Amino acid sequence: MKTRTEDQHRSTLFVCLVAGIAALAGLLFGYDTGVISGAILFIKQQFLLTPGREEMVVSAVLLGAVIGASVSGGVADYFGRRRSIIVTAVLFLFGAVGSSLAPSIVVLVSCRVLIGLAIGVASFVAPLYISEIAPPHMRGGLVSLNQLMITIGIMVAYVVDDAFSGGASWRWMFGLGAVPAMVLMVGMIFLPPSPRWLVSRKDLDKARAVLSRVRGGGDVEEELRAVQGTMDQEAGGWSELFRPWVRPVLFVGVALAFFQQATGINTVIYYAPTIFEFAGFGSAKQAIGATTIVGTVNVLMTVVAVWLLDRVGRRPLLLAGLAGMVVSLGVLGAAFHFSKFSDALKWIAVGSLICYIASFAVSLGPIFWLIIAEIYPLRIRGRAMSLATVANWVFNFLVAMTFLTITDTLGKAGAFWLYAGIAIAGFVFCYVFIPETKGRTLEEIEEHLRSGRSLRSLGS
Ligand code: BGC
Repeated sequence: MKTRTEDQHRSTLFVCLVAGIAALAGLLFGYDTGVISGAILFIKQQFLLTPGREEMVVSAVLLGAVIGASVSGGVADYFGRRRSIIVTAVLFLFGAVGSSLAPSIVVLVSCRVLIGLAIGVASFVAPLYISEIAPPHMRGGLVSLNQLMITIGIMVAYVVDDAFSGGASWRWMFGLGAVPAMVLMVGMIFLPPSPRWLVSRKDLDKARAVLSRVRGGGDVEEELRAVQGTMDQEAGGWSELFRPWVRPVLFVGVALAFFQQATGINTVIYYAPTIFEFAGFGSAKQAIGATTIVGTVNVLMTVVAVWLLDRVGRRPLLLAGLAGMVVSLGVLGAAFHFSKFSDALKWIAVGSLICYIASFAVSLGPIFWLIIAEIYPLRIRGRAMSLATVANWVFNFLVAMTFLTITDTLGKAGAFWLYAGIAIAGFVFCYVFIPETKGRTLEEIEEHLRSGRSLRSLGS
């Protein structure tokens, strides 16, 4: 006879498998945003692109992501999280195959927009789905598997770009994205729908069955009742997003999106070689080496975050990471400011960039996606998350577009000090507004907000 512990062990493994498969959406997010940096060099040559067209090819994904995230919130609430991820996988698949075979630049840009649409949807539906299936004591780590996969996807893209650069095979660089897309599609077909979404669609029997499966056969009635309790309130569609008790949480999501992007992470992810060149490392080989170090530190420190989020909690990591970002950006700026005085300062620039990426990886990187998957009421969770996600992509786009202009206007030191200033504001913002959500059920968080109390008073 099976014991209860055996059942629990099995269901824990099953939940990890579910999260691991859904997080492939994160791998595709990272891969498809990262792969363009290497591919563009060869596309530019083959299609004789003007700078304007080159920019179009590079930013097609960001544009698609903004559109994808803005149109899909209602879809995730109506058709469900699992189905939305399956559609996303199909888009990733078509986009990968299409862009690898593209006969013209118009087809290529269209396929990249298609991939962008998929990224926009996947970026919030995957963490949403995982958060609704995970048991509260493992939710932080499991949801952040998605961020871990993003960082691995970026790393794999760098490696693939490097491997195919000898033969200028940009078509292979894009085409390989079809493999994880296929695994995601097939895998998701076999996974259960989110039990919380099932309750929101009034399918209680199925919700009970899924919950029993992911909670190790124990008593799930209490959890089911709590989820149902949040659905007994009156409905309000999109207008519910702007109710007085929801508005402040909406603001927190959008503000966190701002801080995640405006503290400059993607200037490092997209322009690491350029920054190393600024710092005085001349050769392409050195620049690629440096980029690999940045990618590796990003992955490793995200592993640390996955491990720590449910142990020490979200707030300590968020605040410590932001403090690290402030200091390292300040030092990076200073290294540029005084660079003419000593050649050794370029090593300080490298060191501070590595500390910066490590600090981001344990804080704003995973915690933005985690917090927005935790704080919104079930009935409008998809729509509210999509709003914070759109904000994230819009700020991402703006920072990427303005980085080189800002370094021209304010100087390199000025640019990093500007990001440091924003990180200080981010620290204060998180200190004042972000509560500790470790170990709380999603329903406890929702109940707390419904009762009219502030998000922050949930706990420290
Ligand atoms: C951010 C991306 C960023 C990535 C880097 C994600 O959480 O949303 O914009 O490129 O982290 O690891």
